[in-house]
Amino acid sequence: MFDRKIHVAVNGYGVIGKRVADAVVAQEDMELVGVADVVSDWRIKVAVQKGYPVYASILEAGEAMRLAGIPVAGSLDDLLSRVDVVVDATPKKVAAANLEKYRAAGVKSIFQGGEKHSLTGHSFVAQVNYTSALGRDTTRVVSCNTTSIVRTLGALKSSGLLKRARGVLVRRATDPWESDHSGIMNTVVPEKNIPSHQGPDAQTIIPDLDVITIAVVAAHTNCHLHSWSVELTRAATRDDVLDAFRAAPRIAFLRASDGIVALNSTLELMSDLGRPRGDLWEVGLWEDSLAVYGNEAFYNYQVYNQAIVVPENIDAIRALTGIEVDGTLSISKTDQALGLVRNF
Ligand SMILES: NC(=O)c1ccc[n+]([C@@H]2O[C@H](COP(=O)([O-])OP(=O)(O)OC[C@H]3O[C@@H](n4cnc5c(N)ncnc54)[C@H](O)[C@@H]3O)[C@@H](O)[C@H]2O)c1
Repeated sequence: MFDRKIHVAVNGYGVIGKRVADAVVAQEDMELVGVADVVSDWRIKVAVQKGYPVYASILEAGEAMRLAGIPVAGSLDDLLSRVDVVVDATPKKVAAANLEKYRAAGVKSIFQGGEKHSLTGHSFVAQVNYTSALGRDTTRVVSCNTTSIVRTLGALKSSGLLKRARGVLVRRATDPWESDHSGIMNTVVPEKNIPSHQGPDAQTIIPDLDVITIAVVAAHTNCHLHSWSVELTRAATRDDVLDAFRAAPRIAFLRASDGIVALNSTLELMSDLGRPRGDLWEVGLWEDSLAVYGNEAFYNYQVYNQAIVVPENIDAIRALTGIEVDGTLSISKTDQALGLVRNF
């Protein structure tokens, strides 16, 4: 056990990594020892401005960083020698190759949803399987969409209401910072396979989940929208279903009657609330349109893809290092430090 703060590294200071780094800094029981990346432009210069020690993930990157005036604290190996756990938020394919490096350095590691379950043999959503991650050397925080599915269907399942679920996922085309060089425009593209990968991915965490997902990619850049039809185990009321969601963490309610009518309204609200980067860490579930007819429930929710996995990464740090053995307590520490809410 640790009688000091957990020492954390973030490798890959992009959309996910920069948010996880800030979230680590917000925790009382963690210390951000440094962040590592390969770029030397504005993206990593922000880390310097925030006072985060910057390390070069590969040798050549260190040279370019120094030339760009970035004070380089050392190599990735140097960083790994100073930490207990590394959150790897590098792009797909890059990340998988890092696992052996982390193991050789004796550092626990957390990967992201772009990686396969088979890389770590364990996938993570705090409210469902915190305990099985305790003491492991590595895990994978599942993708934004899968995280939302596990949170919501997990909530219905633990309250005994879930028989089977069918969901349509309207995905964002690309992340806003990349919209000058990727993404689609003026069309909607159905994915080639049904089920899309998110349903099977959720089963890496809840194996007996009866779920099928259909995904389409739309031409906007921020947030996914999920529309779900759920067969319940019995005839139920709206309140039964809402109570099940209320009993689970990290689901917050949006109301069209209050003017939150679309993805953009929620984003504006998050910014106005002064949340960092306008982030929504919770599943944003529309309360007033949720409908129940007999044993069928229907609802829509918003997934802020860039932020929803951030609290899960923080809990994964506590689970792997064992600094907190109680998942519920870890969730509440994380949520309090970040400022998650139940209602907007
Ligand atoms: N963007 C999202 O909405 C989102 C949501 C959930 C999960 N994820 C997953 O998170 C992971 C990271 O995605 P992202 O969107 O943050 O990517 P990103 O491209 O925004 O960030 C990746 C960062 O890694 C850096 N990098 C590239 N090669 C590197 C190397 N060899 N060593 C160290 N750093 C390197 C890049 O410079 C960049 O800063 C992926 O597995 C992705 O699937 C992304």
